[in-house]
Amino acid sequence: MKNIVKIKSKFSLIEFGNIHASSLAMLIEGRDRSGKIGIIVDENTHDYCLDHFLTVHPKFETAKIIMIPAGEENKVMEVCSQIWEVLTEYNFSRQDLIINLGGGLVTDMGGFIASVFKRGLDYIHVPTSLLGMIDASIGGKTGVNFGCFKNQLGLINHPKGIFIDPVFLETVPADEIIFGYAEMLKHSLIRDKSLWEEIKIINNDQDLLLKSILIKSIKIKVDIIDQDPNEGGVRKILNFGHTIGHGLEGYYLGKKNLAHGHCVALGICAESFISMQKGFLSKREYLDIESCIRRSFYFIAISAEEITEIIQVIHNDKKNSSDNIKCSLLSGIGSCIFDQIVSEKEIANSLFHLNLLASSIN
Ligand SMILES: NC(=O)c1ccc[n+]([C@@H]2O[C@H](COP(=O)([O-])OP(=O)(O)OC[C@H]3O[C@@H](n4cnc5c(N)ncnc54)[C@H](O)[C@@H]3O)[C@@H](O)[C@H]2O)c1
Repeated sequence: MKNIVKIKSKFSLIEFGNIHASSLAMLIEGRDRSGKIGIIVDENTHDYCLDHFLTVHPKFETAKIIMIPAGEENKVMEVCSQIWEVLTEYNFSRQDLIINLGGGLVTDMGGFIASVFKRGLDYIHVPTSLLGMIDASIGGKTGVNFGCFKNQLGLINHPKGIFIDPVFLETVPADEIIFGYAEMLKHSLIRDKSLWEEIKIINNDQDLLLKSILIKSIKIKVDIIDQDPNEGGVRKILNFGHTIGHGLEGYYLGKKNLAHGHCVALGICAESFISMQKGFLSKREYLDIESCIRRSFYFIAISAEEITEIIQVIHNDKKNSSDNIKCSLLSGIGSCIFDQIVSEKEIANSLFHLNLLASSIN
């Protein structure tokens, strides 16, 4: 098929390239003709992506468009309930299909809404942000936040298809592209040193959007999910940067509202610092990572009181067992180890270090 790269995955059909040339139309043709389609968007993907998407198949013209408000603070059960009411009102059944057209917020929530309604409707992801394309849409993790705890409610259920068309990136604001960069850096740091060397210095956002770089990053995630879909082992390395990243994101939700990708970048720096302190990562490698993060992300001042509270949020992280805080840590650039017990003191030291960077750099 012209312009389309098929990415082999055990769990979903994944295609990269012009969505009009993809198998999406065929997939729609193959479904029950009387089946309904719901398209979930947020305010921005409604305005910037929907018109283009609707031209992919005539059936989309009669689809029910369901809009959720943009912003991480809306990734909550209350908003899901409103959508379930709409699906009930329009009598959606298990033969029907949900399409999630948006960034990680829409794909995480839309996947959850579809997976739970009437014990599960088929769903498809059409990611529109960089972070959504290379990370959030892949792997079947769906869910919502609960209080200050990230993705505390949810389940793993894979979409039938993931159609990744970089055309949607044309309207993504530059800072959102940089947030996707954080997850790309993570993929390279945990698995692919040569990709790290390729992307650690970018002169221009557009350098990140090269097809070859996007595909390499997507394949890293797909490959890990194929090995361990239920996160019993190696999938945990994808959480590198996220123990502290989620702690920061959860703690500041509704206060500073730091974007997910920004928190992941800070989490990468903090968890690389811990990796160095534990002797897994050399100082040279750590400084390479720190200076990469410094070039693209700003550091925030974190007070001693905040550090105590962030550690409390981290204690409730899904990745922990009993009272231990567990992290995935780097054992060199391009390799990662999981289930590493990290003490509160080590977390606190890494957050003090981030604070120091904020005062010395910003
Ligand atoms: N399921 C997973 O494996 C996984 C992995 C990583 C992140 N996540 C989740 O993903 C979320 C973050 O994803 P995100 O960074 O895409 O955030 P997002 O979905 O909130 O999108 C960021 C912003 O970009 C806008 N946007 C998206 N596509 C656009 C387009 N084409 N044109 C213009 N504006 C556009 C959105 O409306 C929003 O304002 C977090 O909730 C995080 O927890 C999930």
